[in-house]
Amino acid sequence: MSVEADPAQNKPLPPSLAESGSVASRQVLPGSADEQQIRPGAFATLWRLRRWGSHFRWSILTMILAATLAMSAQTMIPLIIGRMVDGPIADHNPSGIWPLAALALLFGVAEALLFGVRRFAMTRASLGIETEIRRDLFAQLQRLPVAFHDGWSSGQLLSRISTDLGTIQRFIGYGFVFLFANVVTILVVLILLIHLQVWLGLLVTLAILPVVWATRNFEKHYGRDARRAQDLTGDLATSVEESALGIRVIKSYGRGPEMIASFKRDAEVLRAAEITKISTQARFWSVLEGQPQLVVAAVTCLGVLAVAHGSMSSGQLVAFLTLCLRLIWPLIFLGWNLAVTEEAITATQRIFEVLDTEPAIVDPTQPRPLAGAATIRFDGVHFHYPDSDVEVLRGVDLEVRDGETLAIVGATGSGKTTLTALVARLYDVTGGSVRVCGEDVRHVALDDLRSCISMAFEDATLFSATVEENLLLGRPGASEAEVAEAIDIAQAHFAYDLPEGLQTRIGEQGLSLSGGQRQRLALARAVLGQPRIMVLDDPLSALDIHTEGLVEQALRRVLHASTAIIVAHRPSTVLLADRVALLVDGRIAAVGAHSQLLAENPTYRNLLAQEAGLEVGHDG
Ligand SMILES: Nc1ncnc2c1ncn2[C@@H]1O[C@H](COP(=O)(O)OP(=O)(O)O)[C@@H](O)[C@H]1O
Ligand SMILES: [Mg+2]
Repeated sequence: MSVEADPAQNKPLPPSLAESGSVASRQVLPGSADEQQIRPGAFATLWRLRRWGSHFRWSILTMILAATLAMSAQTMIPLIIGRMVDGPIADHNPSGIWPLAALALLFGVAEALLFGVRRFAMTRASLGIETEIRRDLFAQLQRLPVAFHDGWSSGQLLSRISTDLGTIQRFIGYGFVFLFANVVTILVVLILLIHLQVWLGLLVTLAILPVVWATRNFEKHYGRDARRAQDLTGDLATSVEESALGIRVIKSYGRGPEMIASFKRDAEVLRAAEITKISTQARFWSVLEGQPQLVVAAVTCLGVLAVAHGSMSSGQLVAFLTLCLRLIWPLIFLGWNLAVTEEAITATQRIFEVLDTEPAIVDPTQPRPLAGAATIRFDGVHFHYPDSDVEVLRGVDLEVRDGETLAIVGATGSGKTTLTALVARLYDVTGGSVRVCGEDVRHVALDDLRSCISMAFEDATLFSATVEENLLLGRPGASEAEVAEAIDIAQAHFAYDLPEGLQTRIGEQGLSLSGGQRQRLALARAVLGQPRIMVLDDPLSALDIHTEGLVEQALRRVLHASTAIIVAHRPSTVLLADRVALLVDGRIAAVGAHSQLLAENPTYRNLLAQEAGLEVGHDG
């Protein structure tokens, strides 16, 4: 068994969900924008996109070629105008204009056509790449273990899979092509200028140097500013998501104004970050915009002098000036390009922070089959969560025999949920081992392991899908009769009375269900198709006593045929089990029959007495 990597070490930026403070309090996380060396090889970062880019290499080549040719066609036109001035116009020969005009028109039409070709290739490549990255990113999120998701806020993931991918798409579609085409245009124009008039051309080249300096300076600052703004956007997305999910709590406690105030503060921080970003951009752009105007003014004066001295023809001056004007747009565009490129670099970094995380829970190199009898064994199991040093489980030894049902009873926070999560390897133990069917779970293929275990969790999560689809999640090929039986066991008959029966859409955008209804559907999902091993984490907590009684009766049948762990806190549920294990502070304090523990163990008695009292109250 290879030592599993600590997932915590693979998280470059863990904006923890637990930190629900203001954005400001979250900014100084490791890897965030503030103190870090932001750009470890900007080119190397973008180069990593080639993994997807190579699938679209022809489109990308077409894109670059079309953009470069279009830019070249554009630069030809000033030269033709220069010829017109020096030729037909100087010679007072109007008919000589037509061939040159036709040539100019030809270049104009070529440019327009190339524009169309580039747009087409661009759409194909940039949207294609965006889709592929999004697919891979989502697949990676599915592969990464629960521990990863514990440490990352959903807003950060959401902003990466939406905003950052959009930025990359923009970069591939425009930024990168025009970065290339603009640099080529600027170089070609400079060469043509030098060719037309050496010293005037060199002067313009020299005058471009401040722009190069401004560019370098800009890159340094803009990269940092962009990263900060992107991280803050992710944090803000988390706030929106949390408040949408928690809207009932917020409303019932009348916390709306506070939430608005806190959101406003966060939005202000984001606004400030965006303004910093934009002022960096504005400073840069004013150089880009202003400087060429000065150059053109200077060139006009010097050019007129040159024409007066006869070292330049007027046609050449016209061509020179028109070419100079052609420099302005690529230079300004260069600024935009660099901004998009910087944003794409940080977006790429943010995406690779997720993609580079090695899933800590993976299949073994030589998986073993689950051939033995359906047993579950905990051998000296220790466990602490990746982000804390506190041991939740401190040496658990426990065995569930083939066909047996074991109830786990313990106070809140004693580690019951944690213990159940280890069986299906949602987390890996930090000490000892968990064996299913006699095999260490780390030696079994994850698919094999998880297909023989079915689970129901405390919080019954249902997806935005039909009731039937939600049920079949547990066992895709299950027959109609099996579904009906599962519904029967979980006492979820209400599902037939929904507007469209089992085809009714439930979940976030669908019909809202009560907590008890959700829990019964989740239980039906778990018992569907008579799984060999069941792990049920307090599956009846939200049910009223009457329904609970009905579910228990039916559940007894299923439990009889499976090996099961059931976390319970009511005596009636405990009675479903053959044996009970008492979990106290991460250790098994006692194991035995319910009646035996009740008689011998005061802690157990105390734990269940409150519930029992409650039930008497209900019955009475
Ligand atoms: N994802 C997590 N990250 C860090 N600590 C956790 C996490 N989940 C639970 N804990 C902690 O582990 C302890 C045991 O939790 P849990 O297994 O849920 O207890 P129980 O189900 O018995 O109420 C608690 O102290 C809880 O705060
Ligand atoms: Mg629990």
